Amino acid sequence: MDRILVAYATMAGSTADVAQVVGEEIAKSGLQVDVLPLADVKNLELYDGVVVGGPMIMGWHRSALKFLKKQRSTLQRKPLAIFVMAMSLTQTGETSVDGLTVTVDENLPKPPKKPGSLSFRENYARLSHYLQPVLKAARPARPLSIGFFGGRLEYGRLKWWAVLFAMLIIQAPAGDKRNRPAIRAWAASLVPLLSGHGEV
Ligand SMILES: Cc1cc2nc3c(=O)[nH]c(=O)nc-3n(C[C@H](O)[C@H](O)[C@H](O)COP(=O)(O)O)c2cc1C
Repeated sequence: MDRILVAYATMAGSTADVAQVVGEEIAKSGLQVDVLPLADVKNLELYDGVVVGGPMIMGWHRSALKFLKKQRSTLQRKPLAIFVMAMSLTQTGETSVDGLTVTVDENLPKPPKKPGSLSFRENYARLSHYLQPVLKAARPARPLSIGFFGGRLEYGRLKWWAVLFAMLIIQAPAGDKRNRPAIRAWAASLVPLLSGHGEV
């Protein structure tokens, strides 16, 4: 039976819950699924397909980027999917990055104030600005699917510098934007890709 890894990075814990949901949904198909923090992944060779998830924390979570870089040659030989959690995304009409279609939570993108001239913050929160470094870290491995979803921000769980960054740069109000039906639908769509029975 195919064995799938769902590995995640997190700062304040909410991506761990999302990884569990992704794992549960994939397991409904009968595949064997391990859901692990990235730090606990010892042997990628055990797995037939890999999902890596993490939040945007001034760029994609550093340990998720580091994992992709370190494992890229192994990941090149396996079906790979990536999910990203974030609190702000500028609506620019972008639906793909480097030729890869991205599944974006429809509740997340917000239109810019002046569509013709993006502010610094709006430019920062573009889909391609967020995802290009992720794809670069994985290269030559290339994900078969990318999901981009609303996360959870709770200032009480964060250190002062993180609160400051979140308030000044992301300017997202605290709250839980996780859209479980959208996350589950994306996870279900991964089954044929990860188990090697879909179009690759
Ligand atoms: C220091 C910090 C930086 C963040 N940077 C971004 C960002 O650049 N863009 C964004 O949309 N969300 C950003 N967020 C929001 C997180 O991606 C979101 O809250 C995520 O769901 C947190 O996941 P976690 O609970 O697993 O740590 C940031 C949050 C923090 C605390």
